[in-house]
Amino acid sequence: MNTTHETPEDTDVLAHKEPGDDNAIERVLVLEMVRVVEAAAVAAAQLVGRGDEKAADAAAVAAMRRAFDSLYIDGTVVIGEGERDEAPMLYIGEKVGIGKGPKIDIALDPLEGTTITAKAGPNALAVLAAAEEGCLLNAPDVYMDKLAVGPGYPEGVIDLAKSPSDNVRAVAAAKGVEPGRINVCVLDRPRHAELIAELRELGCGVVLIGDGDVAGVIAVTDEDTTIDMYMGQGGAPEGVLAAAALRCVGGQFNARLVFRNEDEKARAKKWGITDLNRIYKLEDLAKGDCIFAATGVTDGSLLEGVKRRRKPTGETIMTTQSVVMRASSGTVRWVKGEHRVD
Ligand code: FBP
Repeated sequence: MNTTHETPEDTDVLAHKEPGDDNAIERVLVLEMVRVVEAAAVAAAQLVGRGDEKAADAAAVAAMRRAFDSLYIDGTVVIGEGERDEAPMLYIGEKVGIGKGPKIDIALDPLEGTTITAKAGPNALAVLAAAEEGCLLNAPDVYMDKLAVGPGYPEGVIDLAKSPSDNVRAVAAAKGVEPGRINVCVLDRPRHAELIAELRELGCGVVLIGDGDVAGVIAVTDEDTTIDMYMGQGGAPEGVLAAAALRCVGGQFNARLVFRNEDEKARAKKWGITDLNRIYKLEDLAKGDCIFAATGVTDGSLLEGVKRRRKPTGETIMTTQSVVMRASSGTVRWVKGEHRVD
């Protein structure tokens, strides 16, 4: 190590490196990513219930952008707030971090659930996934058909090429229960009317959510939610984020991009997607080592939301709850934060 070329920041980061530990920098990043999602969540939380989706989103974006500034990474946003001409910050292709350190691709959603936040509903999150360069699918901002199941099932138990009923039957058989005992989470949208009718015909419990399918998909990994499967169309960027989480905690995920017009197909081609009907599995969406981090903005199935509290000392603080997970180690950390209000 040639210390003469190191800045003070370099030294700080390298100080965490232990002999024989090639992943020290990335391990440091795990907790740095929590700071980034915490910052976005605290900013968005000021606007919970204020009826203004755009303001809440803008606050989260600006805070997340600032939090990236000091990170020792050479980061590139691969899933962000939109294309360069439509998003002033955190656009696709934007460089984040100090431009030194590991080359990292980042998928982010500073406020997943803008409407939820505006209406003070459940499950709004600040969320990101980070992986080595080239390991996250550069998904265009189109819809994605999603099918997910939690860990512990035989590989291939779900298959998006099959009907919803066949998938429910397969999961039910693997679980050793009747199809009617399977609970399926679905976004409450008119486009899902047929799907919901088909699931109810089988006797399934259909858990309808108003928004926030990153939390909806992750819910299949947590027995306490009683949700066995996730089905239906939501945003493709959110699909990649959810896939990164499932890479860390287990589970299976099938996805297919849904194109509503030629313009959307052209966008996909621009990002190098040639097979428009491809069914993506977990590793096609997020491969290699990856980190998933999220902070709750409002209370939800995954995380508690940001709360303003008064300490016995009289000081006002904001509390946060975050989760950060890493695919290579399978480590899941739940992080509680206290932030001064000033
Ligand atoms: P926003 O944060 O952009 O409002 O997205 C919320 C969300 O519910 C996602 O979780 C989901 O993937 C997508 O919107 C579904 O899109 P639509 O509202 O068009 O059905």
